[in-house]
Formats: sequence, structure tokens, C-alpha cells
Amino acid sequence: MERPAAHPYRALPVHASRFIGRQRELAEVGRLVGRSRLVTLTGAAGSGKTRLALEVAAWAPRKRDGPCLVELASLSEAGLLPHAFASALEIREVQARPVLDTLQERLAGYEGLIVVDNCEHLVEACAELVDRLLRHCPGLTVLATSREPLHVDGEVAWQVPTFSLPQDGASMRDTMRAESVVLFVERARQTARQFEITASNALQVAAICRRLDGIPLAIELAAARVAVLDLSSIGEKLDDRFRFLTGGLRTAPQRQRTLRAAVDWSYDLLTTAERQLFDRLSVFA
Ligand SMILES: Nc1ncnc2c1ncn2[C@@H]1O[C@H](COP(=O)(O)OP(=O)(O)O)[C@@H](O)[C@H]1O
Ligand SMILES: [Mg+2]
Repeated sequence: MERPAAHPYRALPVHASRFIGRQRELAEVGRLVGRSRLVTLTGAAGSGKTRLALEVAAWAPRKRDGPCLVELASLSEAGLLPHAFASALEIREVQARPVLDTLQERLAGYEGLIVVDNCEHLVEACAELVDRLLRHCPGLTVLATSREPLHVDGEVAWQVPTFSLPQDGASMRDTMRAESVVLFVERARQTARQFEITASNALQVAAICRRLDGIPLAIELAAARVAVLDLSSIGEKLDDRFRFLTGGLRTAPQRQRTLRAAVDWSYDLLTTAERQLFDRLSVFA
């Protein structure tokens, strides 16, 4: 996807922080959305699904309607799903009429993209609703995010990759270009303005990012500590945490699984309001 020179259409929420990297992913998902009517970005919590989906939607070719966002993080009851769609899409419910019928009718002529964010906790209900809407609304394209695919007919599930990491022995220049390192430095500067990456600390930053498997949320959590801890202490704390979480088991796959679980776990513990704030400000604790 070539980025147009003009500003993209922005009816979608705008993040305070700059969107980092992901040029290949933007192009790839942009192509998929142009070709398929349901694309689901999958991956663990904190892997960057929401951010990528919104960026793809913002740069997608303009259609008559949208792009719109249906945000489901705070919805806990599957039965309320059609209401959540109606309210996000500003479709007024008609008294004594099933909201699903109203939704279907009002979207029948919709021409454009709808981002459905955070389907994982209501995956079956989402699958059913999205399937129904796609069948009845020929101009509708859905870009969903979910830890797991919806398994709906025609769905293209696309796993969001982790942020790029510097290779072992990479030059200073290449280290500073890796997405993980760029994210770490930007978030570190939000809490410690004087933070700079230099020849003497680049290796430590790279090691922290590698340790965090290039997961954007995990990198943000670590970078937010730069104001109170030096890099070697952050590295040690990560070490301790792994040792603690794995009970001394230090095989790599186990470590990675545990880290993912830890990030999922900490993110799940946030209230919706906190999560939204966190998503917007990328600040943690
Ligand atoms: N490309 C990016 N540029 C800047 N920040 C990013 C990027 N991708 C993810 N992040 C940040 O990392 C965190 C996790 O990303 P998010 O999209 O919320 O993950 P997910 O939706 O998979 O849980 C968020 O704070 C988000 O702003
Ligand atoms: Mg998300």
C-alpha cells in the first residue's frame, strides 16, 4: 500500500503516540483488506493488533462510508453484541424491533470498512454476527482483532508479528532502526526526557527488547521504568521475573510462553478504563 501524501481520513480514534514501523505489515494487511471481506488480525495481548488495525483503516482507500470502529473490550455479555454494534455505528434502535434486524437493514447499503476490535472474549457471538452481516451487507468489509480467529466462512486470519529486533552483533545504526528499539527509546523518553541511546547502552536496550520477545506492550512496560531504574537493573528485574515465573526452568520456549501469559495476565487485570487510557497514552503504572 503506497502511502498517499494527503492526510488520511480520521474518524477513528487517534493515538497520542506516533505509529512506529510496520511498513510491510501495513502494506500486506492493506492488500488483504482490499481483497477479502473479513480479515482478522490475531496475536497475544499487547502484540499490536489494535494499533495496526486502526492504522490500516486510516490509510485504506476511502469508501463512501466509514471507516468505523466497534470496540468490544468493555462488553461482557454476548447478548448485548448487536446493541454494541448499533451504538458504535450510531444506528438508532427501533422500539419493539429486534436490534439485529435494524442493524442488518441499516447496514445493507453500507459501503466501507468496519474495524471490530477485541473479539476474543465473545468470539462465538462475534463470529455469528459478523457472518450474518457479511452475508446481508454486500458492501461491508470487516477488519477484526482477536487473540484467536473467528472461524467464519471466507475469513483471512493474519497473525501480527512481533516488532523487529536487532540481530546479534548488529551495528549501532541497525540497532537503532529495529522497531523494538525505536519503541523502547520513544517510550523511555516519555518518562525520562533526557534518555538517549548511545554506543554504551545500545546493547543493553537491545538485550531488553530481545528478552521481551519484541512484544510492543512488554517493551512499553519496561521502558516506562527508565525514569526510576537504570538499564542494567531493568535487565536484572526481567531476569528475576522469569526465574520467579518459571520456577527456575529456563528453557527458551517455556520462558516465552510464560512471558506471553504474564503480559496477557497483567493486561487483563486492568479495568477497561485503565486499558483505554493505557492504549491511548501508552503509560503503565
Ligand atoms: N506500531 C506501533 N507504534 C507505536 N506503538 C505501538 C505500535 N504497535 C503497538 N503499539 C503500542 O503497544 C501497545 C500494545 O498494542 P495494542 O495494539 O494495544 O496491542 P493488542 O491490541 O494486540 O493488545 C499499545 O500501547 C500500543 O499503542
Ligand atoms: Mg487490542
